[in-house]
Amino acid sequence: MKKKIAILFGGQSTEHEVSRASASSVLKNIDQTKYDIYPIGITKDGLWFEYTGEIDNIENGEWEKDEYFKRPEGQKVIFNKEVDVVFPVLHGLFGEDGTIQGMCKISNIPCVGAGVMSSSVCMDKIYTKYLLEKFNVKQADYVVINAHEYKENKGLLIERIEKELGYDVFIKPSNGGSSVGITKAHNKSELITGVEEALKYDRKVLVEKAINAREIEVAILGNDYPQASIPGEIIPAKEFYDYEAKYKSEASKLLIPAALSYDKLQIVKEEAIRIYRILDCAGMARIDFLVDKETEDVYLNEVNTIPGFTKISMYPKMWEASGKTYVMLIDELIDLAIDRNNG
Ligand SMILES: Nc1ncnc2c1ncn2[C@@H]1O[C@H](COP(=O)(O)OP(=O)(O)O)[C@@H](O)[C@H]1O
Ligand SMILES: [Mg+2]
Repeated sequence: MKKKIAILFGGQSTEHEVSRASASSVLKNIDQTKYDIYPIGITKDGLWFEYTGEIDNIENGEWEKDEYFKRPEGQKVIFNKEVDVVFPVLHGLFGEDGTIQGMCKISNIPCVGAGVMSSSVCMDKIYTKYLLEKFNVKQADYVVINAHEYKENKGLLIERIEKELGYDVFIKPSNGGSSVGITKAHNKSELITGVEEALKYDRKVLVEKAINAREIEVAILGNDYPQASIPGEIIPAKEFYDYEAKYKSEASKLLIPAALSYDKLQIVKEEAIRIYRILDCAGMARIDFLVDKETEDVYLNEVNTIPGFTKISMYPKMWEASGKTYVMLIDELIDLAIDRNNG
């Protein structure tokens, strides 16, 4: 019997478009002889629809205008079909943050990727830091800003950041992705603008000391016995890997394997697996590091539980270089979701 797989795409986060690109890639490549596929689109307003039209119309956004865009009268559809596995090809809030995972869990439907707690912790950059500190995972120095504290004590907070971190710093919404709302500040005025920009996306903001670093990523796959891919490296086209450098610029380069010594590559892989286990990840994650250009110290940057998943994204590319094709990867993720649900 063919397994029924719901592929969720779109979603309410700032990464809606990125998700549509990832999901089209999954839909075009998944083995249709093995699975019955139900693509389920989620609009930016959070309405769910079963979509039966052309896959090409997902990426270009036409899907919402499509005649195949079925909108049951006055109803929000979650699962009007029986499904064996949900594959949330969603990035960011309401997709990667434990909410969809919780919905699957209470419906007893296996869901690809990390579970509820792990998804929420990994989505929240501040909580990831708090948790990993206990295990001495090296991370950039930081200061946390809450919206209400900033409103009341702006001057003091800015002073504290300058004193504790100096410049340059990165300013990030705690829950975010694809670099949306992230800026690099080289001075006080950029710091203030940056914090205010980040506060538009989240009520918690992370200010982090900038590391003069190479960006090294590792793809992890598995549940209790996770495997690490060959690490890759990103060479951003701009001063840092912002939204434009990620998706709009041709000039950002991906290097697999990363240009590090064999020993360093091993260290990075082992640290990635250690972090994956501490955070109780499952299925997959892409663990991103910053490796100091001078000292070669390895800092964790962030953990993505639903990494970019187009055929040319880092996660699948690193696995391809490590001997797993895109199609194999999808099959394994589905099996891992079922195993995890049973175990
Ligand atoms: N502490 C840091 N030092 C140097 N570069 C950083 C630092 N934090 C973030 N960056 C740069 O900003 C980019 C986006 O930050 P990241 O934390 O990965 O956010 P996102 O979840 O949006 O991908 C990184 O890929 C890197 O280029
Ligand atoms: Mg990142």
